[in-house]
Amino acid sequence: MSAEREDDIRANSGYDHRDPQIVAAPFKTWEKLRDCCPVAWSDHYGGFWFVSTFDLVHEIVVDWREFTSTESTGLPRQATQHLPNHVDPPEHRRYRAIINPTFAPQSVAVHEPWIRDLARQTLEEIDDPDTFDLCSQYADPVPQVVIMRLAGFPLEDLETVAEWIDCLTHGTRDDERGAKSISLLEEYLYARLDDRGKSQAGPDLLSVVEQSTVDGVRLSRDEQVRMLTVVLLGGLATTSSAISGTLLWLHEHPDDRAALANDEIWKTASEEFVRYTSPVAQLSRVATVDSTLGECPIKKGDRLLFGLGSANRDPSKFEFADQVILDRFPNQHLGFGAGPHRCVGSHLAKLQLRVAVEEFLRRFPDYSVDVGSARWRGAEDRGLAYLRTSRGPEFRRDC
Ligand code: HEM
Repeated sequence: MSAEREDDIRANSGYDHRDPQIVAAPFKTWEKLRDCCPVAWSDHYGGFWFVSTFDLVHEIVVDWREFTSTESTGLPRQATQHLPNHVDPPEHRRYRAIINPTFAPQSVAVHEPWIRDLARQTLEEIDDPDTFDLCSQYADPVPQVVIMRLAGFPLEDLETVAEWIDCLTHGTRDDERGAKSISLLEEYLYARLDDRGKSQAGPDLLSVVEQSTVDGVRLSRDEQVRMLTVVLLGGLATTSSAISGTLLWLHEHPDDRAALANDEIWKTASEEFVRYTSPVAQLSRVATVDSTLGECPIKKGDRLLFGLGSANRDPSKFEFADQVILDRFPNQHLGFGAGPHRCVGSHLAKLQLRVAVEEFLRRFPDYSVDVGSARWRGAEDRGLAYLRTSRGPEFRRDC
């Protein structure tokens, strides 16, 4: 390839997934990139390719040999190597096998009654039902309590743990606050594991991880901490964003609210809400070999950021991609990823989404939100930070 052609291909698109304007409203930019440049170079964060179409994103997520997770899945890269998401097969399978049973459909289903009680109680505690922040008063706390209980952490630690997680999923990560949050979180996890090691094992994830072995050898404390970190990071903001994003859609689509009263529709609806909201909007990998992606030459060592959120709105894959179609089937979306790292918590996430939305609609069947109040957060993980409910219907759609 000529030097000019290479320069041309590496022309800077300027795409920055952390730019607040992109975080708030990425869809037009993603559409443009899908149409004109599905593999676009950006000079930000040391340089990376942004990949935006369904087929190319799918190619990356399933091909762990050519696109490794071992160099971090965030951009900028996370300082800590998490387990199992920052190791590739075959090593990956051994760690994944430890947590798979906890998140299997039948293990998750038994939690429904108390998750429903928790959702109801959280709604009961809202003092001013006419106007409240749907995120901080409902969509955030429900998954937070769920994960603290499943993990086996004392609920009185919730506020502190949630603050560290928020900083790590929505902060800039490479700043002082991010570094402090990860070290405090790790310190906390070491202490909880040490306590659990001294007491009797319980049915929670803390015990599962503390007792676990790989090839007959007990996991080191360090490995145990790196496993618990990813469950906390993976399970909190994502589920909150799916709940709040779904309630934003339902505010504008009363017919869909009514349709959700039918149990059957949930078989397809929860997957569709995850596709539409795409709480993990983008992720990163590093190329292990020279290759071609689309028509673009990728060099070994190049970093790629791929848009799961963009792939999920690709009209060449999904008819009416910008609309929620409750009975969409088939629906091979990438909201939970694909390939070996496909989300281990997907069944728990869908259960929480369904229960949280059903209970919200039961308590506030005629709710409306002030769309103009919406504030978005994140980058790789993207979702609502704030959304105020309002008395009157205010239909303004700009996101
Ligand atoms: C709507 C909510 C959720 C969404 C959209 C979501 C999305 C994702 C995605 C896209 C991946 C793939 C990462 C990659 O390819 O690098 C992933 C992995 C993962 N998720 Fe989720 N997730 C959600 C909820 C949860 C929950 C509730 C948990 C656990 C409590 C969880 C735990 C994990 C873990 C541990 C991984 C790493 C799996 C591996 O590397 O094998 N997630 N998730």
